[in-house]
Amino acid sequence: MFMSDVLYEKRGHTAIITFNKTADLNALSEDFLQKIGEAVDLVEQDEEVYTLILTGAGKAFIAGADIKEMYEKDADSIMVWSSLGSGLNLRLENLKIPVIAAINGYALGGGLELAMACDIRIASEKAKMGLPEVSLGVICGAGGTQRLPRIVGEAVAKEMIFTGKKVNAEEALSIGLVNRVVPPEKLMDTALELAAAIERNGQIAVGTAKAAINFSGTSDLEEGCLFEREIFSKLFETEDQKIGMGSFLRKEKDFKFKN
Ligand code: CAA
Repeated sequence: MFMSDVLYEKRGHTAIITFNKTADLNALSEDFLQKIGEAVDLVEQDEEVYTLILTGAGKAFIAGADIKEMYEKDADSIMVWSSLGSGLNLRLENLKIPVIAAINGYALGGGLELAMACDIRIASEKAKMGLPEVSLGVICGAGGTQRLPRIVGEAVAKEMIFTGKKVNAEEALSIGLVNRVVPPEKLMDTALELAAAIERNGQIAVGTAKAAINFSGTSDLEEGCLFEREIFSKLFETEDQKIGMGSFLRKEKDFKFKN
């Protein structure tokens, strides 16, 4: 499906959303955020989609909020952008399926905030990431101050946010901001291979694992372990549990989950 600024495509069980507003490096205007949201609607409505890959066309993943549009805002009117941006990121984070960011180039400000709401980040060697908002006289407005310290730790996050500096792909890897770095021409293949490796497993289990891991970000250890125990036990009501464990016991390698 083609939605001009946002491309939506399905390859098997993998959905790919490509940000395609290259003239301004995929800057996140309110309209663009809405269009991305509409593409995510398609993912949510399709039970045959097991993983989602987000990437950008051209030299940017997303170069941040649309500064031209944002310049005119005041404290009230900026809340529209902030709600759209935060809302989209929370939606991606809570999507039942794994979301992979294939970071092809600049992921700055709101672009990095969006990438940080994804479950796994793969970066091209050309990628550059940062939260430069303080250089514009503001701070992140779509979750950046909350997610970056959770991912890289408080001290590193503070240095990145206070200086607004950009890190390259190798630096991002060394601080744990991305899972791996690959040559630009291998970026999509790597993301698709990762998606395929996830899709071979029981999808109810994968979604449950995501929910459990996400819960760990907002709970203490005891609460988290109780939550895990509860949803772990529910998996024993699924056919996938019988298929997965039964196939192991019968030494069958070539089996498929129900999904
Ligand atoms: N908003 C609006 N337009 C943008 C943009 C943005 N975030 N980023 C790039 N563009 C536009 C440029 O204005 C330029 O448009 P024109 O051709 O009409 O002049 C076009 O995209 C190409 O950009 P450049 O010519 O600047 O490309 P470059 O290769 O020389 O530089 C860059 C690339 C380093 C990413 C540079 O564009 C840049 O610094 N962009 C802004 C990055 C930024 O500060 N992002 C954070 C925004 S604030 C935010 O995200 C907020 C939040 O949470 C509150």
